[in-house]
Amino acid sequence: MEQKPLTTLPGTRDILPVEIPRWHLVEDRARQVLALYGFQEIRTPLLEATELFARGIGGDTDIVGKEMYTFTDQGGTSITLRPEVTASVVRAYTEHHMYRGGGITKLYYIGPMFRHEKKQKGRWRQFYQIGAEVLGSDDPAVEAEVIEMILRLLEQLQVEARLLINSVGDRNCRPGFIAILKEAISQDLGRFCDDCRRRAQTNTLRVLDCKVESCQPYINRLPRITDHLCRECSEHFQKFQDHLREAGIRYEIVPRLVRGLDYYVRTAFEMVSGELGSQNALVGGGRYDGLSEVLGGPPVQGFGFALGLDRLVMILPDSLAEASVDRPEVYLVYLSDEALKAAISIARLLRRQGVRCHLEFGAGSLKSQMRMANRVGARHVLIIGQDELAKERYSLKRMEDSKQWEVSLPELSQYLQSLPAAARKNPSSTNDK
Ligand code: HAM
Repeated sequence: MEQKPLTTLPGTRDILPVEIPRWHLVEDRARQVLALYGFQEIRTPLLEATELFARGIGGDTDIVGKEMYTFTDQGGTSITLRPEVTASVVRAYTEHHMYRGGGITKLYYIGPMFRHEKKQKGRWRQFYQIGAEVLGSDDPAVEAEVIEMILRLLEQLQVEARLLINSVGDRNCRPGFIAILKEAISQDLGRFCDDCRRRAQTNTLRVLDCKVESCQPYINRLPRITDHLCRECSEHFQKFQDHLREAGIRYEIVPRLVRGLDYYVRTAFEMVSGELGSQNALVGGGRYDGLSEVLGGPPVQGFGFALGLDRLVMILPDSLAEASVDRPEVYLVYLSDEALKAAISIARLLRRQGVRCHLEFGAGSLKSQMRMANRVGARHVLIIGQDELAKERYSLKRMEDSKQWEVSLPELSQYLQSLPAAARKNPSSTNDK
């Protein structure tokens, strides 16, 4: 019986070679910008003890309650595919005593996350984040600097996003606010959706994040956390805003902004893009002093963010993405067996000089090889036939303007080396900052 071909699981996908240049572009730029701001890369496991996330993110959150990929391994340990990396980074910071040197520690990561969410445009079950964490400082200046860094990256990638900020208070003032909020919700309880009614008991702040249309008028009437901050949280929030203003960064205060992870205290923020549709959050982050203690570590102050790489790649301008495609510089066309041998050795020589070459083995006629050269986007074609072999001069065709001329091998090398590095990627690119 014929078997149905296997496909990817729902919410996952193959990222194909044609899409990869966009990903490389974002990742390369991110690494450059993160390095400018003093961040170093850390790679933590995709598999972690379930307890790390259950304790770190919070048992009443959607992520821990219904979205984690959890299984018991052969040794009977409960293991979870990481839904985020902040908890892992804080674990690693303690596990490797990174605090010993004193000062602040700046770490970044790029990689896949796993959440069993409802499928939607821009929402995947395996998705990718670029994130960064600053450990060891409670200074709001750090927060503004991190935000400046993200905006710098987005600006280089020609992507616009609005910055939304809030303070979610701390252990001093939040419990009082939650009591006030609960009381206010109870006044209109019957008018809220089922999820809100449940959250009012289990994770009251999350009611503020409800997207159900009929709840909105009642949510808008609820008390605002920014009116109930303690003096320390209020001062922190003010200073954070002062730093943003000094850096010339525009922001909107959104008192309803609460994040889907429980570890946040004081500053919480998101960056949203109008180009993303309903899943409009491009970046999310905030402060998480106290997370380390929840994980059994020493007191550590922390602030960080994660950017949704899938979403950023989706809205990257095509012109920029096109500029980063690694097209072959030379496609070698050969017209006999002898010419193939020469083509192999010329390609070897050019590759040693750093020139990207493409050679099809078992290729057909001149016409079909020229067609292939077009398909792979080659910038030049080098034609090697019997005449060329005899003269040791080859026909070089520049595909951009169809200009064709004869070259010896030294002339070819000299010409290719004279091309500007940026132009070798894409001659028409003017956007590459
Ligand atoms: P998060 O808000 O859960 O925060 O995720 C950050 C970003 O990851 C989102 O703004 C979105 O762009 C992207 N993202 C989340 N879920 C999905 C999904 N299912 N499909 C596609 N993209 C998604 C965190 O993960 C925190 N760890 C951020 C952080 C770091 N806070 C402090 N440090």
